[in-house]
Amino acid sequence: MSSKPENEYYLDSSLRPSTWEEYIGQDHIKANLHILLSAARERAHPPEHLLFYGPPGLGKTTLAYLIAHEMGAQIKTTSGPAIEKVGDVASILTNLSPGDILFIDEAHRLNKLIEEVLYPAMESGMLNIIIGKGPGARSIQLPLPPFTLIAATTRISLLSAPLRSRFGGGTFRLEFYSEEEIGLIVERSAHILSVPIEESAIAEIARRSRFTPRIANQYLKRARDFAQVKQRPLNRGTVREALTLLEIDELGLSSVDRHILSIIIDKFHGGPVGVGTIATALSEEESTIEDINEPYLIQLGLLERTPRGRTVTPLAYEHLGYPPASPAGGLAADPHQKTLL
Ligand code: ADE
Repeated sequence: MSSKPENEYYLDSSLRPSTWEEYIGQDHIKANLHILLSAARERAHPPEHLLFYGPPGLGKTTLAYLIAHEMGAQIKTTSGPAIEKVGDVASILTNLSPGDILFIDEAHRLNKLIEEVLYPAMESGMLNIIIGKGPGARSIQLPLPPFTLIAATTRISLLSAPLRSRFGGGTFRLEFYSEEEIGLIVERSAHILSVPIEESAIAEIARRSRFTPRIANQYLKRARDFAQVKQRPLNRGTVREALTLLEIDELGLSSVDRHILSIIIDKFHGGPVGVGTIATALSEEESTIEDINEPYLIQLGLLERTPRGRTVTPLAYEHLGYPPASPAGGLAADPHQKTLL
């Protein structure tokens, strides 16, 4: 466990907003947290446990840090897969100080035994564990200091119902940002990084960043590198070239996104096809496709999730330059016979 997230190389900690005024977007969540945190502060009690979910890169960790900052609390960070044994969670919980925030990222990867230790800890502030095995086993109960658990996940459906029900402070879904909000974030980041950037370049990065701040900040840095090496001003043209080199297209799709769509069209007549089958065809992890690629493809209206599987939309055919699909699925025999649709 560490007091800083370990794998967040993608987001300079200098770019992470440290006050609510600096945090752009997610207004609905900010308004709710403002009430929750103000009330908790007035009662001199830690806020109730919180659950954040949504696609990666939208600011779940940042919110946890902002809450800690606002409450003047220490934050301890860990993640679902890092807590392997009951002893790990027992040690984390017993080392908390009153008012601490415990942030658990990737909470959907917590194993059942760990969840069972968390339930009473969250509900009644007690650590219940069994020491030893067989007839000599003893159950011990330890009171814990008051603390706030903040859990984050990209896959709320994988969280067990009993765990989900214990986030008394609320469960909040982070939404994709608007292009305008991403533009403001890029402008702020360029300022912090002292990168001179033209308005048109900000707009171009914002348009291709999957409505995701983490990606916008990554593209800003790659475009800055490109401008520096090629000795060019950071304008729209430079951003376009830098992103083309990264195989990011006009809509912000990566080569994997395009591959997903084209495989569904080429091999499965446009769908429906199960995500497991797509993953196998692409040699990708199913969870990567579900967490990273699908939300954006669905947001853009290129892909649909149906009870029978994934289906591409006419927009996907158009974007990839395919002739329109025939009514029965698959490609039309004659690409010019659009009237068939
Ligand atoms: N950097 C990353 N996410 C941000 C946000 N929501 N507001 C401001 N800067 C950010």
